[in-house]
Amino acid sequence: MRALKVLLALVLAAWGLLSAYVFFWFRDRYSDRGPMPYTMRWILHTPLRRLVHPVQPMLDKFGVRPGATVLELGPGNGYFSIDAARLLGAGGRLVCLDIQPPMLHDLRDRLAAAGVTNAHPVLGDAHRLPLADASVDVAFLVTVLGEIPDRPQGLAELRRVLKPGGVLSITESLTDPDYQFEATVRDVCRASGFEPRDHHRGLVGFTMNFAAPGS
Ligand SMILES: C[S@@+](CC[C@H](N)C(=O)[O-])C[C@H]1O[C@@H](n2cnc3c(N)ncnc32)[C@H](O)[C@@H]1O
Repeated sequence: MRALKVLLALVLAAWGLLSAYVFFWFRDRYSDRGPMPYTMRWILHTPLRRLVHPVQPMLDKFGVRPGATVLELGPGNGYFSIDAARLLGAGGRLVCLDIQPPMLHDLRDRLAAAGVTNAHPVLGDAHRLPLADASVDVAFLVTVLGEIPDRPQGLAELRRVLKPGGVLSITESLTDPDYQFEATVRDVCRASGFEPRDHHRGLVGFTMNFAAPGS
């Protein structure tokens, strides 16, 4: 009887959590689009995420390699940043560009605590990247594209800063209220001049890689 009560309590608690999650998902999805609210940042670091977004294999798929110059657009509070910077090594450089100062503040703290020195948090907007032309080998975006109001403009900027043949890697996850469908990502990137390369499906989403024109 006691075991049954415990089980019932666990089921109710799980149901409550799921309902809260669905509520926030819908509220975000159908309210004014914009950057993910800072108050929801905890969701980027839940232990469950490690199961659906395993960091190292994903970085491998994004094309993050030692010695490269990499732009992480919309890093939030840095779920991928520390591992990405370590993978790049001393000869590599990670630029973490986000539009929200508090996210970058958290990210700076995390990088400092991890002793990472080759990652550079930068405050900026995807619509006007404060980076030189053809200066980046790889740019990756995880659940960010749908938050950029003018996606063609954001992609034009990514095209400008990527070296010819550089990799644009876009990951979308069904857990994100701003989820972009595969066909949408492919079409909008193609229309901006990117050439589709490889494509990986995961448990709750996908990663699509494109080559910047001019290779
Ligand atoms: C859903 S979070 C994802 C964070 C991180 N990529 C991850 O997967 O954990 C989206 C991030 O993109 C940032 N972002 C949204 N619009 C942006 C823009 N126009 N320019 C730069 N960053 C932006 C948000 O501030 C937020 O930190």
